Amino acid sequence: MAQPKQRWDPERYARTARFVADHGAPVLDLLAPAPGERILDLGCGDGVLSEKLAASGAIVVAVDASAEQIESARARGLDARVVGGEKLDFETEFDAVFSNAALHWMKDAKAVIDGVWRALKPGGRFVGEMGGAGNVALVRRALHRALESRGLDPQSRDPWFFPDETEYRGLLEARGFTVNSIALFERPTPIPGPMEDWLDTFAETFVLALPENERDSAKAEVSKGLQAELCDEAGHWTIDYVRLRFSALKPTDTSGRWA
Ligand SMILES: C[S@@+](CC[C@H](N)C(=O)[O-])C[C@H]1O[C@@H](n2cnc3c(N)ncnc32)[C@H](O)[C@@H]1O
Repeated sequence: MAQPKQRWDPERYARTARFVADHGAPVLDLLAPAPGERILDLGCGDGVLSEKLAASGAIVVAVDASAEQIESARARGLDARVVGGEKLDFETEFDAVFSNAALHWMKDAKAVIDGVWRALKPGGRFVGEMGGAGNVALVRRALHRALESRGLDPQSRDPWFFPDETEYRGLLEARGFTVNSIALFERPTPIPGPMEDWLDTFAETFVLALPENERDSAKAEVSKGLQAELCDEAGHWTIDYVRLRFSALKPTDTSGRWA
């Protein structure tokens, strides 16, 4: 049976998750966009970072699987299109592909990397940051337990792919990329509101698996279970984020690599 999907409501995203794009600044720095470059923003969300790329003088195409997020990105005047990351259909047209906090939502990483490779010109770069191995491990464990204790299978509701450096480097290199840098690092991340908001915004596939009349109590239970480790005495939550940041190059000479 098809599982309920994560929804990306731009109003909720702007209210509860603006920190995601705020933390994208170092990834933009790593990309170092130049005026006139054609850049694809993969999993652009509501386009806050795509707008920054465009402000640097780059020509930006922003794609996301969520029609609602794309509508919001278009309202910023961006060339934004509804495209799934596993179904990129661009051919040798970008100087760079950029992605912040989106690749871990795309479980078929091979298909994504393949599409990025095809989208890039020879010499083009793929620069991104995503959730890496161990990301939100405490929250994930609490969510799995909440579903298991209600007789539900959490694995089939778990939307995330959090690779370590070795796994993701392997996937990039298998496609032909030269990996210039790749690093896994802990980034404990303060959130602006209560844990329940985070669960609504980012863990909806788990929440929607529950009968409607059990959702609030399950979220309260998850939140209570995490309080000692993730919430301070003043009630501020800091989530156990781990990020994987990388920069890879599609070599100029790709002869001898599968096209
Ligand atoms: C946490 S948001 C990050 C958005 C933006 N990059 C930012 O930094 O604010 C993750 C985004 O990935 C998008 N996404 C999830 N799965 C996707 C897929 N398979 N293909 C394309 N986009 C996807 C979601 O719609 C959402 O907008």
